[in-house]
Amino acid sequence: MTPYETPRIMPLMKKRMLTGDRPTGPLHLGHWVGSLKNRVLLQDRYETFILIADVQALTDHFEHPEILRQNIREVVADYLAVGIDPEKSTIFIQSLIPEIAELALYYLNLVTLARLHRNPTVKDEIQQKGLQEKVTAGFLTYPVHQAADITAFLGEIVPVGKDQLPMIEQTVEIVRDFNRLYGEVLVTPKALVGEEARLVGIDGQAKMSKTLNNGIYLSDNADTVKKKVMRMYTDPKRIHPTDPGTVIGNPVFIYHDLFNTNREEVEDLKARYGKGTVGDVEVKQKLVKALNLFLDPIREKRTRIMEDEKQIDKILSDGTARARVVAAETMRKVKKAMRIDYELA
Ligand code: TRP
Repeated sequence: MTPYETPRIMPLMKKRMLTGDRPTGPLHLGHWVGSLKNRVLLQDRYETFILIADVQALTDHFEHPEILRQNIREVVADYLAVGIDPEKSTIFIQSLIPEIAELALYYLNLVTLARLHRNPTVKDEIQQKGLQEKVTAGFLTYPVHQAADITAFLGEIVPVGKDQLPMIEQTVEIVRDFNRLYGEVLVTPKALVGEEARLVGIDGQAKMSKTLNNGIYLSDNADTVKKKVMRMYTDPKRIHPTDPGTVIGNPVFIYHDLFNTNREEVEDLKARYGKGTVGDVEVKQKLVKALNLFLDPIREKRTRIMEDEKQIDKILSDGTARARVVAAETMRKVKKAMRIDYELA
């Protein structure tokens, strides 16, 4: 082979991974097990885009946009503190990518109102927030905007918590219909759900969430973690430490399994809990220790990061510039496929 011969093997293109969070508050352990952990692991393997979904957050915070402004830096600090590397992952602000809004407008034609009303996550949220007749067009259509978030970057892999699966399903339908109508432009995404698809809250509710106020935050200090764990919901049928308790489905043991690296200790606690030879207090104290051990390095890094706001802003502006180039390229392809790529003289 001469040195001039062109290589026959094309360089391997990395698949794209896209995901995001609403900047409505700092991130909690539910975000970590559902999605953050996967993002950190996979940022080497995939070309990663992480979107801070301020436009989506506005759909239920439009009366208090200042909340989002405050929280954007907090969310970035959480990302960096858990190990998301801005050199590998493009972190950007949704509202600074107008192509996403533009795409969403075209996608709205491909989705019926009836379909939007059937989205189980949206239904849950309407219920939880007591929106019912007050539900706005913006809120009801946010899954379509989310489809635009994902497809603007031709995202193939979407690491999310289980509650987001209906959004990915909606995106798959839009991609299918768009490609059928206008030509193969969009890429079909796949959800990647974390090991514990939905982390139970400290109140024993199905999902840790800011709205339910049942979360342990990555930024909570050691004392707050202790207070939260000590009032955690356990086995409601167990009155005395000598009553045999239930381990399976018990929030304290779900957390032990996920965060306590001392497996021996966890197995010992489980065995004694089942027999009624350990009190809730001991189980909780050991959980406090394990959680603080997990959170200590994250908190330390986070504090350092928050001290340099300029650096955070730089990461966001660099990321947004990179993201804009990609979204603009998709937009160009979409408009061409839709025959609305007018070239006026
Ligand atoms: N809906 C997601 C949440 O509430 C946030 C989000 C917005 C998102 N756009 C996205 C997640 C695109 C994955 C892909 O957590």
